[in-house]
Amino acid sequence: IMVAAVFTCSVILVFLSSVKASTCPTRVFNSVFVLVGEPLIIDCLLDKTPHMNYNLTWYKSGRKMLVTQVKHSRIHQHENMLWFVPATLEDSGSYECVIWNLTSCNKIYFNITVFKNTAGLCFNGNYLYPQEVPASSSVKIVCPYLDFFRDEKNTSLVHWYKECNLTKNERFTSRNDDLIITNANVNDSGNYLCKMTYKYMGKEYNISRNINVTVIETPPNKRTEILYPRNNTIEVELGSNVIVDCNVSSAKDISVGISWRVNNTLVNYSFMGRVQEGNQIDSFPDGYLFSTVTLNITEVKQEDYGRHFVCFAGEVAAYIALRQPVQNFQGYLIGGLLASVFVTVVAILIYKFFKIDIVLWYRKSCHPFMSKEDGKIYDAYVLYPKISSVDSISTADNFVLKMLPEVLERKCGYNLFILGRDDLPGKAVINVVDETIKQSRRLIIVLAPESSSCGLLDNISEQQLAMYNALIQDGIKVILIELDKIKDYTNMPESIKYIKQKHGAIRWKGDFTEKSYSTNTKFWKNVRYRMPPRHLTSSELHLLPAS
Ligand SMILES: *[C@@H]1O[C@H](CO)[C@@H](O)[C@H](O)[C@H]1NC(C)=O
Ligand SMILES: *[C@@H]1O[C@H](CO)[C@@H](O)[C@H](O)[C@H]1NC(C)=O
Ligand SMILES: *[C@@H]1O[C@H](CO)[C@@H](O)[C@H](O)[C@H]1NC(C)=O
Ligand SMILES: *[C@@H]1O[C@H](CO)[C@@H](O)[C@H](O)[C@H]1NC(C)=O
Ligand SMILES: *[C@@H]1O[C@H](CO)[C@@H](O)[C@H](O)[C@H]1NC(C)=O
Ligand SMILES: *[C@@H]1O[C@H](CO)[C@@H](O)[C@H](O)[C@H]1NC(C)=O
Ligand SMILES: *[C@@H]1O[C@H](CO)[C@@H](O)[C@H](O)[C@H]1NC(C)=O
Ligand SMILES: *[C@@H]1O[C@H](CO)[C@@H](O)[C@H](O)[C@H]1NC(C)=O
Ligand SMILES: *[C@@H]1O[C@H](CO)[C@@H](O)[C@H](O)[C@H]1NC(C)=O
Ligand SMILES: *[C@@H]1O[C@H](CO)[C@@H](O)[C@H](O)[C@H]1NC(C)=O
Ligand SMILES: *[C@@H]1O[C@H](CO)[C@@H](O)[C@H](O)[C@H]1NC(C)=O
Ligand SMILES: *[C@@H]1O[C@H](CO)[C@@H](O)[C@H](O)[C@H]1NC(C)=O
Repeated sequence: IMVAAVFTCSVILVFLSSVKASTCPTRVFNSVFVLVGEPLIIDCLLDKTPHMNYNLTWYKSGRKMLVTQVKHSRIHQHENMLWFVPATLEDSGSYECVIWNLTSCNKIYFNITVFKNTAGLCFNGNYLYPQEVPASSSVKIVCPYLDFFRDEKNTSLVHWYKECNLTKNERFTSRNDDLIITNANVNDSGNYLCKMTYKYMGKEYNISRNINVTVIETPPNKRTEILYPRNNTIEVELGSNVIVDCNVSSAKDISVGISWRVNNTLVNYSFMGRVQEGNQIDSFPDGYLFSTVTLNITEVKQEDYGRHFVCFAGEVAAYIALRQPVQNFQGYLIGGLLASVFVTVVAILIYKFFKIDIVLWYRKSCHPFMSKEDGKIYDAYVLYPKISSVDSISTADNFVLKMLPEVLERKCGYNLFILGRDDLPGKAVINVVDETIKQSRRLIIVLAPESSSCGLLDNISEQQLAMYNALIQDGIKVILIELDKIKDYTNMPESIKYIKQKHGAIRWKGDFTEKSYSTNTKFWKNVRYRMPPRHLTSSELHLLPAS
């Protein structure tokens, strides 16, 4: 039983110890470097908390060699620290320190590099301590990891070098382990070397640290500035969703309130949610504050065009306005011009070809309203050649006495005065002509080919005189009707030539068919066109509805 108990006990102990060993957590500390020939001291207790009742042991890793505690050794453990006095190139490698207490263990790895300076330089670019400082009136550069040597008291003052030259500038002052630079600027960036001597066991060693100093220019106190909008106008479609940034830059330490307003009222209050501002987003690029607040117009309405959406940032403000896009303005302009030219040409052509129909139609539809009383009795005075011929009635007679009255009087309702038909017998012709022409609105002159040869109206030359008077004194319009083509006007009186040249003549084709009595033939339309708008008789006026 005893044997069994002892065996069991020892198994438990072995088990316990194996558990202990395997649960020892490990940390790695990599960045330890030292210039060859200089002393190095490493403290295992990185976390400076007071430890009670523990064992601490340094090993060289790999072969797991225990570091000696003999003080005269070049590498030795002194209290909790590992000493190299001095370090040699072969010392590079990893070292571990194991801390035991009653309940747990800790293991820390140190990867130590012993380096040589680059030939001709006082440093090696791979082993520099970086330090960033702001450009200001007074900056401090620290010579790092000197504490353990300081504790030993046998150290010299620290000397500072820049780019391997001793600093002699009055702006550089050494104070304890620090270098103070007054009015530091970007040009003070560079490679710094701090160096002191350390006496150990009667021997003097150098201790140096290379520092890569970067002086960061901080921008001067920035004024608040709105980068966007810039009182500009943008094109947006009606009904679209528009997002506009208000981008503001300001000094880091100024907290500007940014808001979007219309008519000095916050957009969030004045648009019932249709227009909203987003949250302020801040960032700090290059030492200043950059803020963005968006304006979100969910749906652009007509009344938004021309409105000033103003972004306020502290003391400054800038607006953006919306404009409706004008697509292809030039195209529209040219198109519009072409269209109006086309319409004009078409209108002119229509008027040219349908002038007579238009006027006639217009008279027909509006005549009751446009006719005004002028005190005249006849619509036209008809003048025609009375050719005293032996053979039956001439074409002219037929036309004037039958056709004209049939069409113009009976069908169109005009009132004509035809000499020889309407004059009272016995009255002096010259008087009749003079009076009736004054009471007529038009003078119709009928020309027959046979009249040219024997002279127009030879037999009634008084009428010619009257016609002159009418033309010149009363300004009556004359309608010239040719009953057939008249080739030669040379024998015609000057007045006829003048009328023919000024107003032209209407030629009648000379047929008396049924169709030619229609008011809608080209000939009669032409005549009606030149006739005055028909005047209503007083009996007709009665029948009109009261307007
Ligand atoms: C042992 O060390 C660990 C961590 O280092 C600590 O938490 C614990 O309290 C220590 N135990 C004793 C008895 O000191
Ligand atoms: C530390 O080591 C000593 C001797 O090596 C030993 O007597 C002691 O018990 C150890 N202490 C702990 C806490 O491991
Ligand atoms: C130690 O550092 C060197 C270079 O600095 C690297 O090559 C090596 O892997 C490191 N060793 C460990 C154990 O981290
Ligand atoms: C610094 O030293 C270099 C040589 O290492 C020399 O060329 C240079 O002129 C020196 N600069 C100053 C400011 O002394
Ligand atoms: C840094 O040096 C350059 C060149 O010598 C000079 O032009 C510049 O003004 C200097 N900057 C400052 C802040 O002194
Ligand atoms: C400092 O150095 C001197 C002479 O080398 C030596 O006597 C003294 O003990 C040293 N002091 C310390 C604290 O090591
Ligand atoms: C210490 O550095 C100086 C140059 O700054 C050099 O002359 C001296 O030999 C160095 N001392 C040792 C022990 O390397
Ligand atoms: C020094 O630091 C600056 C900024 O961090 C870097 O650009 C530069 O390369 C460093 N110089 C060296 C020699 O490492
Ligand atoms: C405003 O700033 C943001 C963030 O930098 C950027 O994406 C946006 O283009 C800027 N807007 C304008 C209109 O410049
Ligand atoms: C702006 O406010 C004024 C009075 O405060 C008002 O008369 C005007 O109509 C408003 N304009 C718009 C666009 O709302
Ligand atoms: C703009 O507002 C509408 C409605 O509130 C919302 O749905 C949309 O996500 C907003 N857009 C942005 C970019 O904030
Ligand atoms: C833009 O307009 C605001 C008023 O809305 C004015 O205060 C500001 O000076 C203007 N900015 C520019 C660049 O015209």
